[in-house]
Amino acid sequence: MPPNNELELNDIQSGVLRPRPSPYAATYILMRIDDRRAGRELMRRLAGVVASAAHTTSPAAADTWVSVSLTYQGLRALGVPQDSLDSFAWEFQQGMAARAKALGDVGEASPENWERPLGTHDVHVVVTALSPDQQGLEAAIGRARAAFSDLPGVQPIWRQDCRALATEREPFGFRDGIGHPAVEGSGIPGSNSKEEPFKAGEFVLGYLDETGAMPPMPRPEVLGRNGTYVVFRKLHQRVAAFRQYLKENAGSPDEQELLAAKMMGRWRSGAPLALSPTRDDPELGADRTRNNDFMYSDDATGYKTPPGSHVRRANPRDAQVAGVVRLHRMIRRGTAYGPELPEGALEDDGIDRGLMFAFVGAHLGRQFEFVQSEWMNGGDFLGLGDVKDPIAGVQDAAGAYSFPRKPIPRMLRGLPQFVLTRGGEYCFMPSLRALRWLADLET
Ligand code: HEM
Repeated sequence: MPPNNELELNDIQSGVLRPRPSPYAATYILMRIDDRRAGRELMRRLAGVVASAAHTTSPAAADTWVSVSLTYQGLRALGVPQDSLDSFAWEFQQGMAARAKALGDVGEASPENWERPLGTHDVHVVVTALSPDQQGLEAAIGRARAAFSDLPGVQPIWRQDCRALATEREPFGFRDGIGHPAVEGSGIPGSNSKEEPFKAGEFVLGYLDETGAMPPMPRPEVLGRNGTYVVFRKLHQRVAAFRQYLKENAGSPDEQELLAAKMMGRWRSGAPLALSPTRDDPELGADRTRNNDFMYSDDATGYKTPPGSHVRRANPRDAQVAGVVRLHRMIRRGTAYGPELPEGALEDDGIDRGLMFAFVGAHLGRQFEFVQSEWMNGGDFLGLGDVKDPIAGVQDAAGAYSFPRKPIPRMLRGLPQFVLTRGGEYCFMPSLRALRWLADLET
């Protein structure tokens, strides 16, 4: 076995480690396996379509990729032996729908209201294609489609197309896809020079993690090593409600922009409040060498970046919070779906729009579920009591959010819930070797 920090890039799927390109076009295709032999043939063919993470030097090849992941039900449908199935993370075995309460997917967002087939046992395989442009995407989808179009025992059952909006922002209007952690041995730089690279085991199974231990890995080793866990969530965004809330709670357009920034922790251009606390700075927002280059220790109270704002609670960096921040980091990718709500529109047009949120990490529990349940939907770690994330949190009747301001803090109430879960899945993204192992199963 190679030394622990030497990542076997040619065995790891490209979709694990690479930040998504900007602009981008992406497609998610969900499949059901009706016949295990056909499912295994699909794995064999897809192993030839999926790019490895080794293509770090060619941006054109590296930014277009097809990735494949499987749900617990998918591994079962392929005939993976039970003792192996039992060795996966327990959250993964249960599936996202079963974890709804812990994730805050309740009421309108509860699994019985999810878009079908999300959250059902029919979702077995998730194929994702991503490229900087539509042409590259079509080519990548074509390669994936060739793998399943003549296999009657596997059925495509759902598809979601995503593409960068003309503004290159997410639907609320903020630049996205900025932060990316550096992973030791990946050859891909992180976006914050002040953040130490992470041990590979935080993001890829089979390597030491930040605790100095090997993360629990599915058995046999050929199946687990170089794989990782992936979370997909389709998140509907109530853009009109967000705009209305800003309008009702701030006076001038400039004040509305400041309020939006105090909720996100960044101006819409992407410029962080940490570096530009009083006014937007679009040049800074667009500058990849500067727009994530900061920490919070010079702003303990949060006069610049509120502790409860989305980006600071999702990654408190070096701020004082209960817990060890480096154990809750994630690789994340958001890709927008649906058309933009026309600029200035304050009424909902009834069209579905939002983000396909994707998480990548070796620890479903202490990374994704922890951030979602403790940091997004709780405020105790900040000493804020039960105050939720103002952007992505599940709001209760009070809908309270406050941020430090001189001479007195600004208190907001009646914050509606701006984001609604439409469904999602916990998946395992196997290595290329594991895809071939799955193809060769004989049970
Ligand atoms: C529709 C819902 C969401 C929207 C509109 C949204 C939007 C954003 C935006 C605009 C950024 C700043 C850009 C960047 O740092 O790359 C960001 C950062 C981030 N978001 Fe979200 N987000 C959403 C949901 C979530 C969820 C559900 C999670 C995790 C459970 C999450 C975790 C993060 C993290 C970890 C960061 C990086 C923070 C940092 O390193 O400074 N987001 N989000």
